[in-house]
Amino acid sequence: MGQEINSPFRYAGGKFYARKLIIEHIPDHSYYIEPFAGGASIFFAKNKVEKNWLNDIDEELINCLIIIRDYPKELINRLKNEKATKERHNYYKNIFKPENKLDRAVRWFYLNRTSYSGIMNIQNCYWGYGDKYSMRPENWPRNIIRTSAKLQDVKLTSLGFEKVIDEAEDKAFLFIDPPYFNADQDKFYTHSFKEDDHHRLCNVLKRNSDRLKFLLTYDNSPEIRDLYKWVSELHEKEWNYTLNRTDDQKNGTKRKGVRYKGRELFIINYDSIKQKPLFLFSTVNRSQSL
Ligand SMILES: C[S@@+](CC[C@H](N)C(=O)[O-])C[C@H]1O[C@@H](n2cnc3c(N)ncnc32)[C@H](O)[C@@H]1O
Repeated sequence: MGQEINSPFRYAGGKFYARKLIIEHIPDHSYYIEPFAGGASIFFAKNKVEKNWLNDIDEELINCLIIIRDYPKELINRLKNEKATKERHNYYKNIFKPENKLDRAVRWFYLNRTSYSGIMNIQNCYWGYGDKYSMRPENWPRNIIRTSAKLQDVKLTSLGFEKVIDEAEDKAFLFIDPPYFNADQDKFYTHSFKEDDHHRLCNVLKRNSDRLKFLLTYDNSPEIRDLYKWVSELHEKEWNYTLNRTDDQKNGTKRKGVRYKGRELFIINYDSIKQKPLFLFSTVNRSQSL
């Protein structure tokens, strides 16, 4: 049920390159929740289950997903004659004044698809489109239609993460991908995460841990290892990626075509090894249960 597709958005910190590795660790579930959805690359890459809930505190992002879900034709109609140019990027960034939700979604979609790494924090939202590595405007309608189909009946909200986790139905599975602990995330997102937020996240997970299953991804730092000592599985994971799919290289420090390694902690409060026995024989990805 539900096609496996790519996220409609480019998204800083998105989990596109780790999607297979993450999906291997997901247990059977009928209620799926992402409290920090961003580009929701895991939701779009996995099979859709009976109930699904995507949340992100960024209201513009969620508004765009709602418009894609409920008014795909209207959105396509507004974008159909657009070209990806610096002038239009500047127009949507600095001149266009949205008057309604559809206007806001048009602006968000255009800027997201044409900005460097999809960064939407307005101070760091720069032109970053390239015909070779970005989705071309003529392909946007097809992408919107597919995304809309997958988003049907999906609950979309723009709440703080605590409310979502506290309100999650018993036995739900949550994929939790918060901003990193040690990273300059302020420049990526419109809402930053402070040290206190990391502690609040840990507390809300602790108080709901016996009724929910979660897979939490984080940067591998001593503070996070310490904070999550109480969780049954902590894996160090790494995966390869090359920068050519969605990133403009002009402003970045990383070079196109070069292979990089993603390295993170997977923090899991259920028996992921037992549920996915094949995973034990994987030699590609190092797994270390602590
Ligand atoms: C690492 S990104 C998620 C990336 C996503 N997994 C993907 O594949 O694209 C973290 C997200 O957390 C959101 N966020 C930050 N503070 C939040 C809060 N207090 N409650 C909910 N979401 C928040 C940001 O807007 C950002 O989209």
